Amino acid sequence: MKCLAVLFTIVALTECITKVPLERGKKLRDILRERNLLEAFLQRYRYDIGTKYHSTLSSAAQVVDEPLLNSLDTEYYGTIYIGTPPQRFTVVFDTGSSNLWVPSIDCSSSACRNHQRFNPSQSSTFQSTQQTISIEYGTGSMEGILGYDTVMVSSLTDVHQMFALSTSEPGFIFVYSKFDGILGLGYPSYAVGGATPVFDNMMSEGLVQQDLFSVYLSRETTGSVVIFGGIDESYFTGSVNWIPVTEQGYWQIAMDSILVNGQEIACSGGCQAIVDTGTSLLAGPPASITKIQNAIGATPGNYDQYDINCNNLSNMPDVVFVINGIQYPLTPSAYTNQVMQADCTSGFQNTSGDLWILGDVFIREYYSIFDRANNRVGLAKAV
Ligand SMILES: *[C@@H]1O[C@H](CO)[C@@H](O)[C@H](O)[C@H]1NC(C)=O
Ligand SMILES: *[C@@H]1O[C@H](CO)[C@@H](O)[C@H](O)[C@H]1NC(C)=O
Repeated sequence: MKCLAVLFTIVALTECITKVPLERGKKLRDILRERNLLEAFLQRYRYDIGTKYHSTLSSAAQVVDEPLLNSLDTEYYGTIYIGTPPQRFTVVFDTGSSNLWVPSIDCSSSACRNHQRFNPSQSSTFQSTQQTISIEYGTGSMEGILGYDTVMVSSLTDVHQMFALSTSEPGFIFVYSKFDGILGLGYPSYAVGGATPVFDNMMSEGLVQQDLFSVYLSRETTGSVVIFGGIDESYFTGSVNWIPVTEQGYWQIAMDSILVNGQEIACSGGCQAIVDTGTSLLAGPPASITKIQNAIGATPGNYDQYDINCNNLSNMPDVVFVINGIQYPLTPSAYTNQVMQADCTSGFQNTSGDLWILGDVFIREYYSIFDRANNRVGLAKAV
């Protein structure tokens, strides 16, 4: 049986609410109990794997770990809860888009029927709107209706969060995904329908200790994490290099060049790149990607992927990304995915635009910090 590898490119291809402040000074336990969420919270942490706490649950502004599961190095997803009482969903924490959505109970697309669906009538805190939206991603698209409810991410309770309930998820791409929905961590300017993104609400509600989040992606099934409000030095070695955000939509940065064997192979004279947790591979303009595939000895294979003989990794060169004067090499084992014993595929992929997409292939090697307070991205060698 041939398996279709679904590689996700969750970058929104298209293009803001009154805030309810969190009662400061109150113990989180009391806030949770008041909102009837303590039980769900405790239950969840009994079952969740790999959760590591950074802070006790004593103050309102926190640093929290949101554990992610890794499916085949192509999908990283975590659990969130929406509504009162909480309804459970798995979502991709996607820095390449800015909206939160989950399937609606009213959606009959196969992709919806295959996943958890939100039932607004079962939530006492849900507020509806008449506003519809549609979002097109690099792979897949959705149409939905906007509403407000309480969203719990790890131990953070984000009240009055605007999100979309998908009413249609056409095509097959989301049908077999491990995740139910998408939680966009991009800038508000890219939020469709003017919805305030989840992290913007977390900042304005004073939920996070610092206005940044950081991402560590593992090759193992467990161990990956989004850390909201902080940086965890146990996930990287050496220092953090900071890179200014050039355009506040995606997490976009300037790249100086791309080198193979010390020679510039692409991005000559500089180019723009985005750091995107929602894209599986490392994507770039076709002419440049083709040069890289040739340089590493990758050959065209099935499903738009390029094949590599896994036994040849030791003969293959590093591909080096130069950003803000610093070299970020990817070794052959970093930029290949092993499908079977000797069958590897290239981690490089054509994209349709001019932007380079530094997806999971890159982020697995470089712990990434998304700093909204200073509009910069931090990169450090991941452990
Ligand atoms: C091994 O890698 C080198 C360097 O990229 C390439 O030139 C060569 O064609 C590859 N050999 C095989 C058998 O894939
Ligand atoms: C990638 O782009 C190159 C150059 O346009 C093209 O020749 C190649 O077929 C494309 N690869 C895939 C898998 O679409």
